[in-house]
Amino acid sequence: MIRVPLLALCLIALTVPAAGDEPAKPAEAPAEAAKPAAAPEPESPGYAGEEMCAACHEAQASSYASTPHARALADPSRPEPLRACEACHGPGQAHVDEGGGKGVGNLETFAANRPAATRSAACLKCHAGGAELHDFKRGDHARAGLACTDCHRLHGGDAPLLAKPAPQLCYGCHLEIRAKFALTEHHKVNEGVLSCIDCHNPHGRSTPSPMRGSDNVRCFRCHGDIEGPYVFEHAGVVTEGCVRCHDPHGSVNRHLLVRQQVAQLCYECHTVTPATHVQPSFRDCTSCHVAVHGSNIDPRLMER
Ligand code: HEC
Ligand code: HEC
Ligand code: HEC
Ligand code: HEC
Ligand code: HEC
Ligand code: HEC
Ligand code: HEC
Ligand code: HEC
Ligand code: HEC
Ligand code: HEC
Repeated sequence: MIRVPLLALCLIALTVPAAGDEPAKPAEAPAEAAKPAAAPEPESPGYAGEEMCAACHEAQASSYASTPHARALADPSRPEPLRACEACHGPGQAHVDEGGGKGVGNLETFAANRPAATRSAACLKCHAGGAELHDFKRGDHARAGLACTDCHRLHGGDAPLLAKPAPQLCYGCHLEIRAKFALTEHHKVNEGVLSCIDCHNPHGRSTPSPMRGSDNVRCFRCHGDIEGPYVFEHAGVVTEGCVRCHDPHGSVNRHLLVRQQVAQLCYECHTVTPATHVQPSFRDCTSCHVAVHGSNIDPRLMER
């Protein structure tokens, strides 16, 4: 990384005519210029290069070779700190000089006992700019002490380099959610129709809500028929969102409702209803108020 700009400066110094006192000796200049460029090297960490690592770590080198990183990070024009093995494990010359070994040369091992922020930093130096990743540090997973490598396997794994595909990956830690998806009514995640990732960003976001995008907007991507805009909105839907009435994961009740009796759900907010409504025939609220998500015809959410 340091060499490129210095070399560029040297070239400029050579091409731009010297402004006076010291006339440059063109033939020797490159050799002389190389010295200042080499000066910072004793302080800078030493990099050994991929071939050196592969010589002792055949298994890891071959597992790594089949991953997208192998191609992307091999380019010899990359600065050493961003090239091949040492882009993730850190400078390895000291490790090599001592003949390798556990704990030798202070490499990044990504072991579970390493601080999560440190483990993630090794990845974020390249990935922090990704649209899905720039909120990672403020997201629920980072705040709960997860690192990239709690979900990703860098020497192989299911695309994109995951320890397991979702939902199994997620169920490994979220047992209560797994139980929800086993209920009779559920979004067909286990059946492969949709995925946790359709609703959640596994990398987290800065807002407290675990959803991708604004809550209802995420649902409208698939349930566009409910989106509106309506002339007569149902304020309960607009202000409280879909999850006030539906469990997005699973439920024993039809339509993923959070209550078995629809009337019960309505009464939670509508403590007062017209006097007629005490009659048993009024118990099935949505048989008359059919447009429970909003109406263009009737302020009472009745379409007839
Ligand atoms: C993109 C980041 C990345 C690159 C590049 C990478 N590794 Fe790894 N490596 C890891 C991670 C993370 C682990 C921890 C286990 C896992 O996720 O598979 C690991 C594990 C290892 C281990 C085992 C460490 C232990 O504690 O047992 C060795 C050895 C290793 N890598 C060597 C290499 C070599 C050699 C290369 C280059 C050929 C390489 N790695 C390239 C991220 C990387
Ligand atoms: C001379 C052989 C040799 C070379 C060269 C070598 N290693 Fe190692 N390395 C070892 C041995 C031996 C271990 C200990 C393995 C064990 O105990 O499982 C080790 C361990 C590691 C570990 C785990 C470290 C730990 O503290 O647990 C990583 C990561 C690693 N090497 C990466 C690299 C990388 C990256 C390079 C290239 C810069 C490299 N090694 C070059 C021999 C070597
Ligand atoms: C030196 C820069 C660099 C580092 C460090 C790095 N990556 Fe990457 N990563 C890349 C690039 C570039 C790609 C794109 C590869 C491609 O698609 O060709 C990539 C791709 C990926 C992918 C997508 C793979 C796929 O199948 O599409 C994942 C997941 C990923 N990186 C995770 C990680 C994790 C986790 C770490 C830390 C252990 C890490 N990366 C470290 C540069 C880096
Ligand atoms: C809770 C598990 C989890 C954690 C932690 C995690 N990821 Fe991911 N990552 C995933 C899943 C699942 C996908 C697949 C997303 C998809 O299919 O849309 C993914 C996809 C990716 C991709 C592919 C491109 C993309 O944006 O969809 C990259 C790159 C990536 N992760 C990098 C990282 C890095 C870097 C970190 C740490 C800063 C990290 N991930 C932490 C689960 C995780
Ligand atoms: C290694 C364990 C682990 C894995 C794997 C994991 N999570 Fe998490 N997740 C956590 C922890 C810990 C929290 C913090 C809150 C908690 O304890 O529920 C969390 C929080 C969340 C939250 C926010 C919860 C809230 O209370 O706001 C969502 C949403 C979430 N995870 C979804 C996922 C999805 C989707 C996946 C799979 C792509 C996944 N998680 C994989 C451990 C994990
Ligand atoms: C149809 C969209 C959708 C799908 C699919 C989905 N979720 Fe959720 N999830 C949500 C919504 C919406 C919330 C917020 C619930 C709330 O605010 O009460 C949520 C909340 C969560 C929470 C926080 C705790 C809780 O119960 O509120 C976790 C953890 C979670 N989801 C994990 C997962 C996992 C793991 C999967 C896949 C197995 C998954 N979700 C699939 C929409 C979804
Ligand atoms: C005030 C409670 C409430 C809110 C909030 C709510 N729903 Fe509903 N939803 C219901 C009821 C009640 C039913 C069952 C209607 C019936 O019995 O015919 C239903 C049915 C559904 C159905 C299946 C029937 C159909 O119309 O396609 C879907 C899909 C649905 N809701 C999605 C959503 C989405 C998406 C949101 C957020 C924009 C949402 N709901 C918000 C109460 C609500
Ligand atoms: C990726 C697409 C997708 C997203 C996002 C999505 N859903 Fe669904 N939803 C479906 C599918 C597919 C069904 C199953 C329809 C069927 O079986 O006929 C369904 C069914 C439902 C049902 C039950 C409908 C019935 O008639 O019983 C409700 C309620 C529902 N979704 C609410 C939501 C809510 C609330 C959200 C946002 C938190 C959401 N959905 C996000 C695809 C999605
Ligand atoms: C989360 C609270 C909430 C739930 C649950 C809820 N509503 Fe509402 N609903 C409101 C609010 C707020 C209004 C706006 C008028 C008001 O303040 O009473 C409204 C308005 C209405 C209206 C329009 C008439 C009016 O008073 O303006 C009808 C009809 C209605 N709701 C029926 C239902 C039915 C039927 C259910 C059950 C499926 C239901 N609501 C569930 C909050 C809710
Ligand atoms: C048989 C059809 C029918 C059923 C079933 C029904 N309603 Fe109504 N509802 C109406 C009619 C008609 C009106 C407006 C006339 C009135 O004031 O009586 C109304 C008015 C309302 C209003 C007030 C609207 C306003 O303008 O202030 C609310 C709130 C309401 N219903 C909630 C419910 C709830 C909750 C249930 C289920 C327990 C329910 N309704 C069942 C027909 C019905």
